Amino acid sequence: MNSLIQDAHKAGERVGLKSDKIVINGGKPLRGRIEVRGAKNLATKAMVAALLAESPSVLKDVPDISDVGVVTGMLEAYGVSVTKTAEGELTFDPSNVERAHFAKIDALAGSSRIPILFCGPLLHRLGEALIPDLGGCRIGDRPIDFHMDALRAFGAVVDKSYEGIRLTAPNGLTGAEIELPYPSVGATEQVLLTAVRAKGVTELKNAAIEPEIMDLIAILQKMGAIINVEPNRVIFIEGVEKLEGYNHRALFDRNEAASWASAALATEGDIFVGGAKQAELMNFLNIFRKVGGAFDIHEDGIRFYHPGGDLKPVVVETDVHPGFMTDWQQPLIVALTKAQGISVVHETVYENRFGFTDALIEMGADIVVHKDGLESVTRRVPRRPLEQAAVITGPTKLHGADIRVPDLRGGFSHLIAALTAEGQSTISNVGIISRGYEHFIDKLRALGADFVYEG
Ligand code: EPZ
Repeated sequence: MNSLIQDAHKAGERVGLKSDKIVINGGKPLRGRIEVRGAKNLATKAMVAALLAESPSVLKDVPDISDVGVVTGMLEAYGVSVTKTAEGELTFDPSNVERAHFAKIDALAGSSRIPILFCGPLLHRLGEALIPDLGGCRIGDRPIDFHMDALRAFGAVVDKSYEGIRLTAPNGLTGAEIELPYPSVGATEQVLLTAVRAKGVTELKNAAIEPEIMDLIAILQKMGAIINVEPNRVIFIEGVEKLEGYNHRALFDRNEAASWASAALATEGDIFVGGAKQAELMNFLNIFRKVGGAFDIHEDGIRFYHPGGDLKPVVVETDVHPGFMTDWQQPLIVALTKAQGISVVHETVYENRFGFTDALIEMGADIVVHKDGLESVTRRVPRRPLEQAAVITGPTKLHGADIRVPDLRGGFSHLIAALTAEGQSTISNVGIISRGYEHFIDKLRALGADFVYEG
């Protein structure tokens, strides 16, 4: 079995998916209401933060997704007891943190990038961290140099071993001045999770300020940390000696919300996404409206729908927050294949995030990927080295095909494409989708999709 199939299998198994294949009969609009819960990209980090506390933490609205299963497994391997205390609520008791057997940790590797965020907390708790080779979605090189450089600045010693990466802190960890070469989400979280208990003050420049990071800062503040977010992407962290457990409701998953919104638009449907909020989606909502989608903001969620009429082409550029998120482009591109004219999506965050378009092209879409980017007078920011562009010419009719999910967001985009296509599509490796989309099979059923899933 190649590693992608293996990852898909493991990921699906973790959330109880029995089959790795779904057969979709396209052409039916999705209509109805679904709920989104806590964000994958916050909940998993909040779980790591629990390791820093002296007392138990409670996280609410935890989604039932495979990546949460990976972090649960890792926490348990380090002696943290993880208990489901209510529906969607996990309690973490870190009173018996201990060294883990590397084999246990390694068995979880290859399926998530979260293990790297254990470095700082483990150095504080155990004086050592052994981190396996990292997985995550195959959307580029995804190096960890920013993480390792930051940890070195705190005083960690990094050694490569045949098992993975071994970190020690012979003289403890001390606050540092760190400037990230790029506002990386993971590296910012790495610095936060390390600096809160390091000796002295840390100044982090060029930090990422995504809403999930702000929610992680809120959690750390509840735990006793002192963190100041200053203008111009600067964050000051004053290290403290002790942190207590937190009680927190996770921020909603704005990536999942944007994905279902795109599904409503592409299938000419009408989906009420319970739990979605406007503030964290503003940029997405603008583009959604420009393409021709409609939405109504309610207190308990957002209704996304196709109001009739033609969809319009757009030029979008992915960026760090507050820009248009890289995770939003894949589901949106399916809707853009239906727009009247030429759309351009510039991807500036990852160097390989249009791989999923191969399947759309096979299904009849007119998409040309420019691997080295594209010059355009409408660009808001100058060319960046990490840039690709996809030119989508519409409208095109999609037809069914046999597709294999390549990565999380690309996989969701394939689901949408199959739902809009004429005829039948078979999608394999759907376990990958369960890494970040809670109960997506049940949600498809609730929205009236026509499909066969054996499991
Ligand atoms: C997080 O990944 C998310 N993952 C991603 O979501 C999301 O797309 C990304 O942030 C951007 O918002 C999680 O939160 C688990 P980065 P992360 O560090 O932290 C380069 C999804 O589908 N870089 O901000 O790994 C990197 O290669 C996932 O939910 C380095 O060069 O992203 C990339 O080009 C996919 N060296 C850019 O920075 C490093 O040491 C941004 O990555 C670290 C990153």
